[in-house]
Amino acid sequence: MRVLTRRPSTGPGVYTGDLSTGAGVAKAVAGAGAVIHCATDPRRWQVDIDGTRRLVEAARAAGGPHLVYVSIVGVDRIPYGYYRAKLATERVVEESGLPWTILRVTQFHDLIRMVAGVLAKSPLVPVPAGVRFQPVDVHEVAARVIKLATGTPAGRVDDMGGPHARTAEELFRAYLRATGRRRLILPISLPGKVFRGFRAGANLTPEHAYGRVTFEDYLNHR
Ligand SMILES: NC(=O)c1ccc[n+]([C@@H]2O[C@H](COP(=O)([O-])OP(=O)(O)OC[C@H]3O[C@@H](n4cnc5c(N)ncnc54)[C@H](OP(=O)(O)O)[C@@H]3O)[C@@H](O)[C@H]2O)c1
Repeated sequence: MRVLTRRPSTGPGVYTGDLSTGAGVAKAVAGAGAVIHCATDPRRWQVDIDGTRRLVEAARAAGGPHLVYVSIVGVDRIPYGYYRAKLATERVVEESGLPWTILRVTQFHDLIRMVAGVLAKSPLVPVPAGVRFQPVDVHEVAARVIKLATGTPAGRVDDMGGPHARTAEELFRAYLRATGRRRLILPISLPGKVFRGFRAGANLTPEHAYGRVTFEDYLNHR
């Protein structure tokens, strides 16, 4: 088991590297049987696309390990810039010539909590009306990813979502309850194709609600 990070190594198995330059990547993948690719930079999408090309190149030179890529439910249906980059990265994986598996997942509980924390800084909180999320526990995702990485390359596998699809307002209220805060909530209908996609539920996968941990379980645990 090895980890590639941009940070200085903290011990055996921790390799320093950077997908934006390719530095250190070849060393990290040398002799690997499988590579779980969950590196991303939502602010610099080219790191995802070009960085994945660099990873693929290094992996091919290293004998062609199984490449497992973590993507997001709805990247093909919601025209959000970061999602377009994830979709383009999926293509890089599919056309890599490596044995591959792609798992699309819904939003992690951590992301919803982080956004709720930012919104809760204001006494009056605008929340997108009609938008739902199906947040999932990252540990459950990790367990599935490990199972996939140790199995036979499977292409695009069934998506994975959390146990329930809930409105942004419900999730925000759960966050307020768990953190003992009171805020005025103002549901607003946001314009544009991106929010239309979210309102249409393109980010949800109710038929693959494999996660068991609810957003409240997660908040209580924290
Ligand atoms: N968060 C969500 O709600 C969600 C939902 C569905 C799918 N996903 C997908 O799941 C994966 C993981 O998401 P996450 O939210 O856990 O991401 P994250 O917390 O932002 O972690 C991504 C990691 O990528 C590494 N990274 C960034 N730029 C890099 C570079 N140039 N070279 C090497 N490593 C780099 C960073 O590791 P170091 O700082 O150690 O270098 C960073 O910790 C992503 O593919 C994401 O799209 C996320």
